Amino acid sequence: MDNTKREHFGSHLGVLLAMAGGAIGLGNMWRFPYLVGKNGGAAFILVYLIFVVFLCLPILISEYAIGRRTQKNAFGAFRALSKNKNWSLIGVFAVLAAVCVLSFYCVVGGWSVKYLVESLKFNMPQLDSSYFNGFISSSISPVIYTLIFLGMTGGVLVLGIQNGIERFSKVMMLVLCVLIVLIAVRSVTLPGSSEGIKYLFVPDLNALDGKAVLEALGQSFFSLSIGCGTVLTYGSYVNKNENIIASSLKVAMFDTAFAMIAGVAIIPAVFAIAYMHGATPEIGAGPGLVFITLPSVFNEMPMGGFVAVLFFATLLIAAITSAISLMETFVTYEIEEWKVSRKKAVWIAFAICSVLGIFCSLSQGVLSGVKLFGQNIFDFFDKLSANVLMTGGGLLLVLFVGWSMKKEDYIDELSNGHTNNVPLWLLSTIYYLVKFVAPVTIVVVALANFIL
Ligand code: PFF
Repeated sequence: MDNTKREHFGSHLGVLLAMAGGAIGLGNMWRFPYLVGKNGGAAFILVYLIFVVFLCLPILISEYAIGRRTQKNAFGAFRALSKNKNWSLIGVFAVLAAVCVLSFYCVVGGWSVKYLVESLKFNMPQLDSSYFNGFISSSISPVIYTLIFLGMTGGVLVLGIQNGIERFSKVMMLVLCVLIVLIAVRSVTLPGSSEGIKYLFVPDLNALDGKAVLEALGQSFFSLSIGCGTVLTYGSYVNKNENIIASSLKVAMFDTAFAMIAGVAIIPAVFAIAYMHGATPEIGAGPGLVFITLPSVFNEMPMGGFVAVLFFATLLIAAITSAISLMETFVTYEIEEWKVSRKKAVWIAFAICSVLGIFCSLSQGVLSGVKLFGQNIFDFFDKLSANVLMTGGGLLLVLFVGWSMKKEDYIDELSNGHTNNVPLWLLSTIYYLVKFVAPVTIVVVALANFIL
């Protein structure tokens, strides 16, 4: 493949919004708010921020730098940079991780499409827990919505980097920000919402135990999309004059800010409505919060029908921009390694993810008895990607940068050939964080996760 013909993002803003779009997703909207509340509010946020700054950011920067330096897909990038070809296995890991994450992510994406459609029909009153459980465990409808979601993702990718990913991300990220702020304003203006704000932000050091620290780490990896090759892939479309450190910092800040605003949009509303009925707020992670608790909250809230439409539109946009980054990682790999056209590559990715996605969807119903290592297929893909492939991919990546890549090459890439005025002490600090702190932390946490 001739690299001079490789497409690139057209602007600084395009790079930022595409990368932020990849990072901001379901993880910000259904896991972060819940984890913050459960694990001690502001104290948890502080630990999370320490992980983001000292661990995830250096890894994010490294993944981005490898993509930008090589201008290749995840597999080709490691092959190009290393003398020992075994390192290209990291790329295989990354591409596999992306496909695995997308396989269960697209199912939840499908649920978001369904709930957006239902909210547009002002059908919220019917959407209780038995409706949700009935829907996800049926064999036809959630499968169709999964395919619709994957089809929308593929549809953007067929259009290419600038016309597809960049243009879509620019428009959608703007819409996303406006919507989440509108919902947050509605949430905090409900009577009784202040308890929810306290739950979110008042530090409770007692709730911050070892398990909470592990959860903060896992969430920071997932939220910033580290270890799946998506950052590397987008990095390979970035021009040589972009400041990698500055744009990574902006992506991390954007992602964290969005997660906090999502918390403000969701938790105070749940508290306000629960207190109105003298009930205890039901805040659990994941599907229960988003697809069961929130519809009941929207039902009770003034202008709730309208807020429901805004919310499920937000959820869908957040999910789709992340799915785009995941599918693109596989698509670029196919284009460059299998030498197929973009259109064909998207079709192949669509077909493979559809098959896996269908299995994940059916594992909520007819295939619930099929167990892989004691888990249903959906949970298996979830755990395999988060605990093995993403963490393993992140570990191999930092080992590669710290112990195989030449320090001068790394620093040369981060400083744009010593032209972008990033001070040398900062470059060296990032390098040593990646070389020593990151691998040790990942191994310790993985072991602790195993034991605790
Ligand atoms: N960061 C996404 C979220 O918070 O929902 C999830 C994700 C996207 C993980 C892309 C990994 C990835 F490569």
